[in-house]
Amino acid sequence: MQVFHEISEYKKTWAQWKKDGETIGFVPTMGCLHDGHMSLVKAAKKQCTKVVVSVFVNPSQFSPDEDYDAYPRTVDNDIELLKKNGVDAAFVPSVNTMYPSGITMDVEKQEGAFVEVLGVSHQMEGKFRPHFFRGVCTVVSKLFNIVQPDKAFFGQKDIQQTVVLRRMVRDLFMPLEIVIVPIYRQEDGLAMSSRNRYLSEEQRKTSCVFSQALLKAKELFDQGVRDRESIIKVATDIIEANKNVRLEYLSLAHPTTLEELDTIGEDGAILSGAMYVGTTRLIDNVTLGFS
Ligand code: PAJ
Repeated sequence: MQVFHEISEYKKTWAQWKKDGETIGFVPTMGCLHDGHMSLVKAAKKQCTKVVVSVFVNPSQFSPDEDYDAYPRTVDNDIELLKKNGVDAAFVPSVNTMYPSGITMDVEKQEGAFVEVLGVSHQMEGKFRPHFFRGVCTVVSKLFNIVQPDKAFFGQKDIQQTVVLRRMVRDLFMPLEIVIVPIYRQEDGLAMSSRNRYLSEEQRKTSCVFSQALLKAKELFDQGVRDRESIIKVATDIIEANKNVRLEYLSLAHPTTLEELDTIGEDGAILSGAMYVGTTRLIDNVTLGFS
């Protein structure tokens, strides 16, 4: 596996691959890689002849009070794991490389080019993390311009991110396809996440209440229930019965407009939310009536 820190070095390999008729699959990550990330790598390997994974903790998607400095960084392990999983290239840029105009997490003081997708970035996760999707769209645009993949792979784990990025690719005519990979869960249902390592043994056990609540709501949907109140109530009651967690929000939204729904229609819905276990914030979701 080749490890690239510089854009110019990667470009040479890219040019050779294109000459050879290879198709390039790209998996953007913030590192601290786990089996969830590897499920994206596996999907990319199935659909493309070359796979590139980026490892970059992107400052612009964190707010000043979030965990940018504390975000787990395990680059050496990440590179080993990528090698073992048959990845062809890892792109591991510095902050200076990715932000030639510099970057601060204080939005008022930022300079340079940023990418925003309006209409689907302000609700759900965006309500609690106001500049988050602007940061994600900006870094993913930069990475797409550098890596120039044929297909890019994202996890359903961050479902709003997939909706926002699909809209970005469509509206900006970016010449690639976005592929969405199902959530990779541990045996007890907890969605794998880099932030799970913040959880104590006890908190780890408690956390599976989130997926249990969402799956119970999905059962209700499968039985024919379509009204918001019943779906949200069944999930909320299960989560709130546990005193060691704090539910931040639950959303029942249209799969592409992300508008909150009173009744689930033919297009189906996304049931998603965020929950705190101690100081660790977890997100999860299920799709209802579409996949
Ligand atoms: P990160 O949280 O590292 O996730 C990288 C990719 O892995 C995302 O597409 C995410 O949805 C996917 N992923 C994480 N856990 C998963 C799981 N349990 N099952 C399936 N997929 C999973 O998401 C980001 O990084 C960043 O926002 C990024 C897109 C890299 C931009 O900085």
